[in-house]
Amino acid sequence: DRQHDGRQPKADMRQLDAALCQLADSLLPTPEERAAQLQAFEAVRSLLQARYPGARVHLFGSVANGLSVRHNNDIDVCLELEEVAGDDQAAKGEVAVAVGELMEAAGMTEVLTLPKARVPVVKFVVPRTGTKVDVTVNNMLACVNTKLLADYCAIDPRLALLVALVKHWAKQRAVNDPYRGTLSSYCYVLMCIHLLQTRPAPVLPVLQQLPATFRRTVGQWTCEFCDDVASLRGFGGANRESLAELVWAFFEYWAWRHNYSSDVVSIRLGGCLHKDDKNWTRRVGNERHLVCIEDPFELTHDLGRTVDRQTRAVLHKEFTRAATLLRDADDPLDALFAPY
Ligand code: CTP
Ligand code: MG
Repeated sequence: DRQHDGRQPKADMRQLDAALCQLADSLLPTPEERAAQLQAFEAVRSLLQARYPGARVHLFGSVANGLSVRHNNDIDVCLELEEVAGDDQAAKGEVAVAVGELMEAAGMTEVLTLPKARVPVVKFVVPRTGTKVDVTVNNMLACVNTKLLADYCAIDPRLALLVALVKHWAKQRAVNDPYRGTLSSYCYVLMCIHLLQTRPAPVLPVLQQLPATFRRTVGQWTCEFCDDVASLRGFGGANRESLAELVWAFFEYWAWRHNYSSDVVSIRLGGCLHKDDKNWTRRVGNERHLVCIEDPFELTHDLGRTVDRQTRAVLHKEFTRAATLLRDADDPLDALFAPY
């Protein structure tokens, strides 16, 4: 079904755009929500710094990159300890256990420590604000990719609006759960950036292909990109597409244009690679490479690796449902975002 007939949406695009802009606005966090999250972060930061003098504590993820949506009261915190090596999983696990005990003693609730996870983590709730916190140790790649996403976000406001709608859609349609074989929020953000980089008139540049003004080495990975967003503001001005047109383009791409058998989405390069180029052509262990999204820095990391044959079919069915609704319905919005 990759032969799309090229038809455009049936709905009045101006009306659809007004409704989508209004919905996207209503999904952005309120100043009160933001203030509560920052307050929770400060509480966690001061506990960690009292216990680990000299440590650095970073906020990362959606609250830090400007891509958070309302009613998602989660924050991601990274504890940076010089004495723990980036690849020392056991040491990270031990720190996680100690942080769990620290948070328990400080009156945090629902403390859950997962020292043996791929990324050792401590989860808990800050009772005063109800904020759910994930603390990870020396998760420096996540801090750097948060900065990259924040910089993309500052270049064109359409990214944050598109991401808000796509995340909302993914949650409503139950396809935003990497533990159940669908895709993480971070993966959907990369898919949105890829779309905006590849419009006929691009909305976003490819920051990793411009002369680097930011550099950081994390383990074996060199992370470099242009972070001079002040000089790039207005980059997307030649593209006049509305939010509705971009939402349509997103679903149409993932329903009918993406070549699932050969393409690897790469925001690093601003396009697609071939699976052969990455050696992502067959299953290795649990990594099936059925939907391939390259991490911008950890180049061996396929964000789509959580997808199996069954969940790929589910994802493709949902993308196709969304695109078909947008194409054929007079007033597609209620059905588009209907709970699964
Ligand atoms: N991250 C990562 N690799 C992954 C998943 C996540 O590096 N496979 C990092 C990214 O820095 C991401 C952060 O962890 O920004 C949080 O991930 P996630 O919760 O999926 O994304 P958010 O943008 O925070 O989404 P939400 O608003 O749904 O919490
Ligand atoms: Mg998050």
